[in-house]
Amino acid sequence: MGAMAAANPAGVVLAAAAAAAATVASSAALLSYVLLSNHRSKFPWKRSRTNPRRNRRRSGLAAAVGYTPLIRINSLSDATGCEILGKAEFLNPGGSVKDRVAVKIIEEALDSGELVHGGVVTEGSAGSTAISLATVAPAYGCKCHVVIPDDVAIEKSQILEALGATVERVRPVSITHRDHYVNVARRRALEATKSAAMQREACKMEGNSLIHINGHTPQQEKCQPISSTDCKGGFFADQFENLANFQAHYEWTGPEIWEQTRGRLHAFVAAAGTGGTVAGISRFLKEKNPNIKCFLIDPPGSGLFNKVTRGVMYSKEEAEGRRLKNPFDTITEGIGINRLTKNFLMAELDGAYRGTDKEAVEMSRFLLKNDGLFIGSSSAMNCVGAVRLAQSLGPGHTIVTILCDSGMRHLSKFHNAQYLADHGLTPSATGLEFLDRP
Ligand SMILES: Cc1ncc(COP(=O)(O)O)c(C=O)c1O
Repeated sequence: MGAMAAANPAGVVLAAAAAAAATVASSAALLSYVLLSNHRSKFPWKRSRTNPRRNRRRSGLAAAVGYTPLIRINSLSDATGCEILGKAEFLNPGGSVKDRVAVKIIEEALDSGELVHGGVVTEGSAGSTAISLATVAPAYGCKCHVVIPDDVAIEKSQILEALGATVERVRPVSITHRDHYVNVARRRALEATKSAAMQREACKMEGNSLIHINGHTPQQEKCQPISSTDCKGGFFADQFENLANFQAHYEWTGPEIWEQTRGRLHAFVAAAGTGGTVAGISRFLKEKNPNIKCFLIDPPGSGLFNKVTRGVMYSKEEAEGRRLKNPFDTITEGIGINRLTKNFLMAELDGAYRGTDKEAVEMSRFLLKNDGLFIGSSSAMNCVGAVRLAQSLGPGHTIVTILCDSGMRHLSKFHNAQYLADHGLTPSATGLEFLDRP
């Protein structure tokens, strides 16, 4: 405190008063430091910076991630009498909210030394996170290896490969199976790290980067899917359990929302996949103002609604054995889950709403027609949540939600008339009457 006053011309004070205040100030500073450091040790995520724009000098593509506009959704605001604002995450360079997570996961891993320049980030994902990692990794001098189930649309691997990632398609099996795509991704990172260590050892011993035994290269075989010749080690991104995901939103998206609304918001709502977005933003906003209401909107097949409202992880579809293998029993992609992740556990929520596929489809068409917003399925579900929240809070409130990605990523299902017709989801509403039910 004393140092700040001395360094700040506006803080110039009379010398006598300053001397008298100095003792009080230094004891107060000491006390607040002790309190703060105790607090910090209990809450490890607080050790990180809260303003990455000021503290981390990003450049190139990484600097283009985040700081997205907060758009007033005119149609929903006018219809509800609330200010409904959507954070336009689809404008990130990799096209989704997951760019922030990719940046944060890679930066933390590089800072901790778990990932090195030239190393490979692995992830088991067919969704936006894989695309964001593939987009962002080269900006940090890293590579990306993605493991996906082989029943996922071929365009997904084509996009990832076009972005320079290597893609391994594996047969779909249960998460408990060692060959589930997430488990394979974890294993590939370990293999890459082992292979890199062996190569370094071989280099030292023989002045050569590879050991050849009878013309055969055993470590190359182990690391084959990742290409071992220039393998510098691997790092498993682990978006569900890696708290860098939560952190990206706690110290980046949340503060942006706070700044953009000048702290004048009443509520926030979003759906959860890994839970990183809703957890990071809700926790940041609640710390700024505990009166801000934070809600989850949950798609069909997900157990989170019951977890938040009744404390029990349960979904009707799961209980009846109706749950689809992949993804959950919903057309919305990237959201809904039936287990508690470390990221979701960080959320501070006041309640939850359920949303249906039909509502998400109708919402997306309503926003396209009235606002020119072409958004994906999770964004549409988030907007359903925003209207539900506006209905329960009443007019005069400011509500923020997330526009996770664009409709471009959803042409084969969510924005495909034939697919919707086949699933009885053809939109027919003329206004917002599909949200009339309580
Ligand atoms: C398009 C899209 N929207 C929303 C989410 C959910 O975000 P989170 O994982 O932070 O809960 C995801 C997650 O993968 C996603 O891919």
